[in-house]
Amino acid sequence: MKKYLVIGNPIEHSLSPKLQNYWIKTNKIDAIYGKLQTHDEDLKELCNKIKNGQIDGLNVTVPFKKKIIPFLDALSGHALRTQSVNTVCLKNGNVTGYNTDIDGFEISIKKLGYDVVNKKIIILGAGGVVPSIIYALKRMNASQIFLSNRTIDKAEILKKLFKGIEVFEWGKLPEFDMIINATSLGLKKNDRFEIDFLKFGENKFFYDVIYSPFNTDFSEAGKKPGNTIENGLNMFLLQAQKAFNIWHNIEPNIDQEVIKFLESNN
Ligand code: ATR
Repeated sequence: MKKYLVIGNPIEHSLSPKLQNYWIKTNKIDAIYGKLQTHDEDLKELCNKIKNGQIDGLNVTVPFKKKIIPFLDALSGHALRTQSVNTVCLKNGNVTGYNTDIDGFEISIKKLGYDVVNKKIIILGAGGVVPSIIYALKRMNASQIFLSNRTIDKAEILKKLFKGIEVFEWGKLPEFDMIINATSLGLKKNDRFEIDFLKFGENKFFYDVIYSPFNTDFSEAGKKPGNTIENGLNMFLLQAQKAFNIWHNIEPNIDQEVIKFLESNN
């Protein structure tokens, strides 16, 4: 039986085991997918286990998407360019890191039919998933990307990695068409932004990368006639679909059934 794990810290909230095990079952694959709360000092051992076949694949989440890189033998082009890895497996004898967040974000935007060209786009946050979001936006020819993070130095580092991004102070929003919450604010029930999003008028796109809980302070703030709201569920499903495909060479279904299953308490 093949073994897969999602590693992160914290990890309790992750829906990856529920989703991946559902697809493993519906595709009749002999495998199991678990979760492991991980610490920096565990990364080397986990990668060794991939190398010697004790584990067949990993999903990597906060805060290890970059930290795992020194322990890998090879990176896909996407992982290399973003310095961010969310999927790992053995490929031609090499422990290889992939990035499926980029496709997950990009396809979720395309499915909504939203065109990012000539839009003013704000990204809030500078954590693990932000390089993938910037990369995807640039691939879709977005030219006006603004970045703000509570710790401004982290935003400045990203500005160096990706040319043509403007950084602004936390809490001081410029005008925008689309705003993306890529912070972890909203994961906890009482998390609040001290920002008045509504003063910016209508026809805005509020995209929250958080998918659990399904509604956050940020997505509530965007609920206004004329606005588009998207939470991170589709991005989550799409990145997981790509990871499943890398490991099992099958593209699993994303349909109402799987969404209902994820939302259920099973
Ligand atoms: P990491 O930073 O370890 O990669 P992450 O979950 O990917 O973890 O990122 C958390 C993001 O949420 C960061 O941008 C963080 O801002 P800092 O870099 O200043 O820590 C942001 N964040 C978390 N709590 C926040 C809060 N209370 N207010 C504003 N931003 C917050």
